[in-house]
Amino acid sequence: MTKTVLVTGGCGFIGVNFVRLLLETREDWQVVNLDKLTYAGNLQSLEDVQDDPRYRFICGDICDKNCVDDIFTKYHIDTVVHFAAESHVDRSITGPDEFIQTNIVGTFTLLEAARNHWLEKGMDADTCRFLHVSTDEVYGSLGDTGYFTEQTSYDPRSPYSASKSSSDHLVRAYFHTYGLPVLITNCSNNYGPYQFPEKLIPLVLNNALKGRELPVYGDGGNVRDWLYVRDHCEAIVRVVEKGQVGQSYNIGGHNEKKNLEVVELLCDMLDKKVGLMESGKSRRSLITFVKDRLGHDRRYAIDAGKIDEELGWTPAFTFETGMEKTVDWYLHNRSWMESVMDGSYRKYYEDMYGS
Ligand code: NAD
Ligand code: TYD
Repeated sequence: MTKTVLVTGGCGFIGVNFVRLLLETREDWQVVNLDKLTYAGNLQSLEDVQDDPRYRFICGDICDKNCVDDIFTKYHIDTVVHFAAESHVDRSITGPDEFIQTNIVGTFTLLEAARNHWLEKGMDADTCRFLHVSTDEVYGSLGDTGYFTEQTSYDPRSPYSASKSSSDHLVRAYFHTYGLPVLITNCSNNYGPYQFPEKLIPLVLNNALKGRELPVYGDGGNVRDWLYVRDHCEAIVRVVEKGQVGQSYNIGGHNEKKNLEVVELLCDMLDKKVGLMESGKSRRSLITFVKDRLGHDRRYAIDAGKIDEELGWTPAFTFETGMEKTVDWYLHNRSWMESVMDGSYRKYYEDMYGS
């Protein structure tokens, strides 16, 4: 079935992987990518597909009502896959303003445009879908046992997760109030190609290759449930095509790991692939325990039973196969890492870890 999909935030980590997946696997779909190109967005990540006739890039802000309205009118958008967000918890702690603006006001602006174009102007709303890409962090923090299900009460504990919770609530309200055909996905931590190097896995890879300290917050015992980004993107397509409107779907990798375990694994993989450091030491010697993140959620773990049972999705990658692909990708794309670190992030990074 043909679709014209507005992908917001398509120049960020998951968005880039998602746009690529659509162009590779959905021949009949047109893709319009709206991205503001913040520090986290990078046009270079999609350079090789920029001339594909099924793909358009528009530089703009999801909070800009006129810009969003024009896109709906000009391209007859029937599907929205909404990734655009401020996504880094640490930044939300030091500067929450942009998180409120983009994550809440931006989502509201997109919902209003969809309501206006799909419901008020009489498009066939049955074939339209608005998928909001959200996070497991809305559910708060777990103890040593248990899993987040779709019934778990929201309990966000950082400005980032509070802003994503707010936007989830708005999306759900547009379904109940106006009948907008919405879907929500709440996914665990992603890893894979094109992830901005402020996040744990690419940060550790980058620093370990440069012989710099590997900062582990607190005691390194916080647990995240890791999912290879391609699996997340496949799950999103499945929900767009088969999901029941008004529903939420948890997406997770069944890969619970302590942060210290992840960092040690990355050190061992690099030692093996590129050899020990010049000093003859393992990269594990770079691990440095640093001050903990404020309000650091202890454990996330997803019960992804619903999407498996109802839509037949399970992850294709194990943690081992996904990490192997990820490490190889970063080793082969070191120039990508250097180029995305240009601008404001490089100054921050060099102040922190040295130039
Ligand atoms: P990212 O930070 O790598 O990319 C965000 C993208 O959004 C960037 O390209 C940026 O330029 C763009 N953007 C930011 N503000 C914008 C605005 N006002 N208008 C238009 N574009 C704007 O994020 P990501 O890791 O790719 O995450 C994408 C989505 O998935 C987010 O909504 C995030 O909450 C969600 N999510 C991420 C993870 C994860 O592990 N990364 C897990 C679950 C859910
Ligand atoms: P991150 O990649 O920022 O994702 P999130 O906060 O959304 O889970 O962090 C993953 C985990 O790694 C989290 O528990 C915080 C921790 N962490 C570190 O220990 N050191 C770091 O330098 C970073 C960026 C994160």
